[in-house]
Amino acid sequence: MVRPWYLLLLLAVLLIPDAVVSKKKHGHHKHGYDDLVSSVNVCDSQHQQILCCFCDSFSPGTAEDANCWVCNERPPGNAIWDSFSSQQNITHISFTVRPGSSLSIIPTRALSRLPKLTTVKVQYAIVAEVPSFALANASLLREATLARNQILSLRPSAFANLPMLSTLDLSENRLSSVPSDAFGPHLPELRRLFLDRNNISAVADGAFKHLTHLEELELNSNELTDIQKNTFLGLQSLKRIDLRSNRLVVLRDGTFLETPSLQELDMDENKLELVEPKAFEGLHRLMRLRLRDNKLKLLSDSTFVGVNNVHFLDLRDNDLLTLTATAVEPLRRNLKNVTMSFYLEGNNLVCDCRLAWMHDVHNETANERVRSSLEELKCRLHRDMAAAAAAAVGITLLPTEDTEEQGDDAGLRRDDYEEEGHSGGDVVIHLLQIPPEVLPCPEERRVLPLDVDEETLFTAEEEVSGVSGAVKEEAVIVLIAALSVARLVIS
Ligand SMILES: *[C@@H]1O[C@H](CO)[C@@H](O)[C@H](O)[C@H]1NC(C)=O
Ligand SMILES: *[C@@H]1O[C@H](CO)[C@@H](O)[C@H](O)[C@H]1NC(C)=O
Ligand SMILES: *[C@@H]1O[C@H](CO)[C@@H](O)[C@H](O)[C@H]1NC(C)=O
Ligand SMILES: *[C@@H]1O[C@H](CO)[C@@H](O)[C@H](O)[C@H]1NC(C)=O
Ligand SMILES: *[C@@H]1O[C@H](CO)[C@@H](O)[C@H](O)[C@H]1NC(C)=O
Repeated sequence: MVRPWYLLLLLAVLLIPDAVVSKKKHGHHKHGYDDLVSSVNVCDSQHQQILCCFCDSFSPGTAEDANCWVCNERPPGNAIWDSFSSQQNITHISFTVRPGSSLSIIPTRALSRLPKLTTVKVQYAIVAEVPSFALANASLLREATLARNQILSLRPSAFANLPMLSTLDLSENRLSSVPSDAFGPHLPELRRLFLDRNNISAVADGAFKHLTHLEELELNSNELTDIQKNTFLGLQSLKRIDLRSNRLVVLRDGTFLETPSLQELDMDENKLELVEPKAFEGLHRLMRLRLRDNKLKLLSDSTFVGVNNVHFLDLRDNDLLTLTATAVEPLRRNLKNVTMSFYLEGNNLVCDCRLAWMHDVHNETANERVRSSLEELKCRLHRDMAAAAAAAVGITLLPTEDTEEQGDDAGLRRDDYEEEGHSGGDVVIHLLQIPPEVLPCPEERRVLPLDVDEETLFTAEEEVSGVSGAVKEEAVIVLIAALSVARLVIS
């Protein structure tokens, strides 16, 4: 049986130390209390109710690793941060805020007591704004992880005077912009900066200008709609940039002129509709280019000029109508190299002579990946033209199962073009099934300038894909004539 007065006693025992503490803290004994707490050994968790640090060694000055938990609703006060003076040998420290507890600052004051600090991690705090010099100018600090702290903004020089810092992780926060002056001055060793999974819609010009040794920049899963040359000012050593899962629509000429060392550029899962002809200018060292899952309809013939080191190119899941031989010319050599990866599936390719080069590459390359990627490629051909072509060469062209609506039974291969309800439609065929000499190449296609604008292209497209019967018939007749000649030559 628990008697009421027991409960009262229990309550009194629980409350009195707190009451005394807060009275002292706010009364004229403040100084004495602070001295008391700040002289406490921070690794001796017996003394702490607000901050519990688990260290690899307990005696004063001996600990090197400390994992501290913020475990009280009341935020830790200055005195507690000062008590880190008791463990000046700490090199690795982490602060984790337990559910129901709160921490609204980066514990700069504690960090400034730890002259040997090399790594710091803070997580699950709620830090609206990172103040200037938040990492206390720590002279040996190499790695700072501030992910998952709901950070909304960065003050000027939030991260500055950190001569050894090489990795800064600010991922999974709520930053909405990268201001022009948050990073630096004096971050000479910063190699990796993680700003992924924030809410960043704007990066100020020159935001990274002090980061001349930065090699890796993560900006994926943000809300960026625009990047340009000045976004990347100063990033002369940058090797990898991840811009995946943003909202980029246009890549302007010269966007990457400030980042000549770039080897890897990831822009998968954006909304890119246009890559201007010189968007990749200056990227002589680029090895990997990812543009999967965008809305590209056309790549200019000069897109890859000078970008001839690319050994990984992913253009899957766009709306590309074609990819010309001229456009891939700078990569032609690499396509034969065993190190190359090339992906183009999931586009809206039109079967015509502009894709004929793929037969040659398929024949030339020893690279199995490239070969099978080309074998997978499908293109669209008007069904009458496909039938004529098929009849002319005496082969059966098998349209693939996704010729009409998706969702047909997998594996169903229709070889009957005359099925009801399909008149006027296109058939989708594996490109390599169509002998190159059968690929239609109407007159208007041949005279297309190399750098056509989209309107020209679409006009040409419509004519080929069958609205205009006259053009179509003409093309079929030309085709059949050409094929007859071809057959004569073969036999
Ligand atoms: C702190 O570390 C240094 C070397 O890293 C060592 O010489 C010194 O004894 C340590 N201090 C304490 C109190 O253990
Ligand atoms: C860090 O350096 C800045 C600029 O020199 C200075 O204003 C600031 O007080 C320093 N902070 C610490 C904790 O030493
Ligand atoms: C993202 O930023 C915008 C302003 O740029 C703001 O309106 C929105 O609430 C933010 N979203 C989150 C989840 O923080
Ligand atoms: C293939 O590419 C690699 C770089 O990935 C290069 O070092 C090598 O020389 C290339 N081989 C040929 C035959 O071009
Ligand atoms: C493939 O290349 C060889 C020579 O390398 C050539 O004789 C042959 O005709 C080519 N085949 C095709 C389909 O282009």
